[in-house]
Amino acid sequence: MKKLTAAAVAAVAVVASTSAALIQVGVFAQPARAQELPRPAEDNDYRSASSAMVKLGQMFFYDRVLSGTYRVSCATCHNPDRAGSNGFRTDSKPEEEGDELAINGLPLYEALKPSAKHAPALFNLGAKEFTAMFGDGRVAQLPDGTFLSPAGAELPDGLNDVLAAQALFPAVTGDELVGTVDNAVKQVAHLGNRAVWDALADRIKILPEYGPFVRAAYPDLASLDDLDIVHVANAISAFVAAEWRSDNAPFDAYLRGDKSALSEQQVKGMQLFYGKAGCSTCHAGTFQTDHAFHVVATPLWRFDVDFVDGEFDLHSDRSELTGNDADRYRRRTPSLRNVEWSPPYGHAGSFETLEQMLRAHLDPVDGLQAFVADRLKGETAPASIEETVQDLVERNELKKVALNDTEIGDLLAFLKSLSEPQVLAGKLGRPVAVPSSLALD
Ligand code: HEC
Ligand code: HEC
Repeated sequence: MKKLTAAAVAAVAVVASTSAALIQVGVFAQPARAQELPRPAEDNDYRSASSAMVKLGQMFFYDRVLSGTYRVSCATCHNPDRAGSNGFRTDSKPEEEGDELAINGLPLYEALKPSAKHAPALFNLGAKEFTAMFGDGRVAQLPDGTFLSPAGAELPDGLNDVLAAQALFPAVTGDELVGTVDNAVKQVAHLGNRAVWDALADRIKILPEYGPFVRAAYPDLASLDDLDIVHVANAISAFVAAEWRSDNAPFDAYLRGDKSALSEQQVKGMQLFYGKAGCSTCHAGTFQTDHAFHVVATPLWRFDVDFVDGEFDLHSDRSELTGNDADRYRRRTPSLRNVEWSPPYGHAGSFETLEQMLRAHLDPVDGLQAFVADRLKGETAPASIEETVQDLVERNELKKVALNDTEIGDLLAFLKSLSEPQVLAGKLGRPVAVPSSLALD
């Protein structure tokens, strides 16, 4: 069964008024021509913020006080131990195993699992060219500076950038920060997003430990009492942008002129990527994304999906936002920076290794069918799955590319040259403590 997330439902509600504006998103970024290496990143490609803003944002990012249940922080899902993604690896252990009150009477890991969503890593989202957030682009900044979001007219003024706008949404999304059990934030949720945002800002105001951080970041603010959710969102944006800026991988050194930065195998892989394998037609530019929305026949389910008895909670695609059937399964091209460190792969977390992802991506239709056949273990697929697979195959725009094993090895080696080991530790990393004194993720 396909279920919409609260955010997707809200997004559909604003479709009528925004579909014209949406058409512009994703087309104004200038994709580099395939076959051509991108130019290296520069400071000016990124927004900048004061170190006090970044520090305050770090506190908010890690502070569970911003979740209804006091149990979840941004870092619960975007965890620094997993390169800012959630991994969903089968070996990941709930931190609060045995804590039956975590969320909805379930330990945290169990409670978050049903949403079955792979939280992506957050690299380079502070680069100015990233103007659309989420796989379906439901939070975006238009060329005229205005924002498009599921909150419509409720979106507050004063947001610095799209990443700040995005930071407002986990707080109002049922399975993210609001939490599904009764709590003071959930009690006001029926009054609308604004009520939730105000309730969260109120929690910060009563914590004097936030005072020094807030004063340093916002010297013009008369008192902590004047803080609102926009201050929170702008600080989180500054932190995410600074923490996961990544433009010092071996590939960057190569682009800046150090031809010894890549191994011979990586250079061969690079030539395939920017040449006959055609990767850069979509994975274009400095961050390997054209920021456009494509239909590629990547499976829509997690690697451990149970097709026979399972329930499926699919990620929303672009069509739910635009109301246009031609956008069915369309999803934004992901950046491939540090991709080696954020398994499982594909938006739904379908493949546990990068090599599996790559092999399926090179032969997408066969890759999709093999994925489904493998999970069915000889059983018959439910009709709805058959139909979905057929539909996806018909709409798929990713062409098959025939490469031999050596070439696949070269491409994988190149993808690893996009990894920057220093960013795993982060610039600030995990704080020692947060002002609320709640546990850290
Ligand atoms: C319960 C898990 C969870 C929590 C908590 C959470 N996120 Fe996420 N986040 C996700 C998932 C899943 C997605 C991908 C959703 C999609 O693309 O539809 C995502 C996407 C994002 C994106 C967009 C990335 C991109 O490339 O478009 C950003 C930025 C982000 N989250 C930041 C945050 C911040 C900041 C917080 C805290 C305020 C937070 N998240 C809390 C799960 C979570
Ligand atoms: C038609 C556009 C297009 C082309 C060409 C293309 N990709 Fe992709 N790629 C995508 C899209 C869209 C996704 C996201 C798929 C999803 O999550 O459902 C993706 C996902 C990926 C991922 C997984 C990223 C992650 O974090 O899960 C990798 C790795 C990748 N592509 C590498 C490549 C390589 C290497 C090539 C060349 C052989 C290539 N792509 C060609 C559009 C494309």
